[in-house]
Amino acid sequence: MRRYDLLIGGEWRQAEGGRTFTVDDPATGETVGEVADASPADAAAAVAAATEAFPVWAAKTAKERARILFRWYDLMMAHADEIAECMTREQGKPLAEARGEVEYAADFVQWFGEEAKRVYGETIPASHPHKRLLVLKQPVGVVAAITPWNFPAAMITRKVAPAIAAGCTVVIKPAEQTPLTAGLLAELALEAGMPPGVMNLVTSSDPAAIAKVWLEDERVRKITFTGSTEVGKLLMRQAADTVKRVSLELGGQAPFLIFDDADVDAAVREVMASKFRNAGQTCVCANRLYVQRGIADEFTRVLAERVQALRVGRGTEEGVQIGPLIDEQAVAKVERHVSDAVSKGARIVTGGTRLTQQGARFYAPTVLADVRDDMLVMREETFGPVAPVRVFDTEEEAIELANRTRYGLAAYMFTRDLSRATRVMERLEYGIVGVNDGLPSVAQAPFGGFKESGLGREGGRYGMEEFLEVKYVSIGLLP
Ligand code: SIN
Repeated sequence: MRRYDLLIGGEWRQAEGGRTFTVDDPATGETVGEVADASPADAAAAVAAATEAFPVWAAKTAKERARILFRWYDLMMAHADEIAECMTREQGKPLAEARGEVEYAADFVQWFGEEAKRVYGETIPASHPHKRLLVLKQPVGVVAAITPWNFPAAMITRKVAPAIAAGCTVVIKPAEQTPLTAGLLAELALEAGMPPGVMNLVTSSDPAAIAKVWLEDERVRKITFTGSTEVGKLLMRQAADTVKRVSLELGGQAPFLIFDDADVDAAVREVMASKFRNAGQTCVCANRLYVQRGIADEFTRVLAERVQALRVGRGTEEGVQIGPLIDEQAVAKVERHVSDAVSKGARIVTGGTRLTQQGARFYAPTVLADVRDDMLVMREETFGPVAPVRVFDTEEEAIELANRTRYGLAAYMFTRDLSRATRVMERLEYGIVGVNDGLPSVAQAPFGGFKESGLGREGGRYGMEEFLEVKYVSIGLLP
């Protein structure tokens, strides 16, 4: 059992009234931890602590800020197994995947520690000899970070590391399903020497109440959120009253186009990596598979064979590749999508059922064939281990189908033809495109979407810009 209080102003303190809530293992329903259940007053106290810490932190040199981030990185890597186990217990993903996520999460801390030293301004040639024009980059101020349950470590560091590197202070609200990994990361940040108030952690069973306090508070200058498009729109509306800067990483509905000239084995490998990572609970996972007619049967057969061989079970068990879904609603959504598809004529090639012998929240990795565009699996984000295969004939048709959505986060294609890859890549209306690559996410590259998949970018030098104000200074030289 892990237990965490709120981290406010460098101190661990109980929530108002000593309230707490428990955290469950999605594989078993067993309680694995307990955390403080913050009130709106606690949320406001965190903002006060971040506001007080801001001028001191912003005035530190980039090298000083980087040093702390590097120590945090080292501690995360030294505790990688412990963080991974904590993540698997509260989120369900297999241990090997959780270990991979710790490295991915730590990469953001290291990369932005390095990037802190490269926040360059600019000089602009003036129109008058007695003037000098400068552009300065300055931290935006207090940042509110609201993070999801599907990547309990990486979605925190992808937001917090660039904010802190830029000189901002942060208040974080992790998802109520996965606050323990957040507590552990915050503990390590303190051990790394993070000064009081620079990083504040507020756990709560009532996310909307905490978000409301932060959105209404004019001292919070930026909100960064990963989650559903519906909640993202709500936050964006609420942020308008105080004209906060907003970064949103929202839903996806990724198409994966597999052309006739693709190496089927390699394409199946990358589709599996994309589709079944975290049991299909990622915003960038392949949601819709479009396969060109010439290889459709072969591709579907090989995919089904590999999917059938996936080992489903508790993430803590050796060799497990697919863990549980996060909660009952998630399983119910997958069931709804599959039964809708079947009722409209889709064929279950493998899977298609709950695996109740493993536990209530396990769903069999599934491949659907004879899929049509009007089925829910092709129109909405399933967020589960279901791979629907839809056949297409021409390149033009594939592009049109891929873009036929209000989302635009990630898209993928498999082809050996460089000219086709270039043509298609240019026309896909997506923020991330994987060409012969089902796992493009890395710390040094921009992550974010077109259309209703979000605003702004995380990761890479673009991720740093989100936490910087641009200040133009015109200096008149006196005689
Ligand atoms: C997400 O699903 O939101 C994040 C996935 C990634 O970083 O690759």
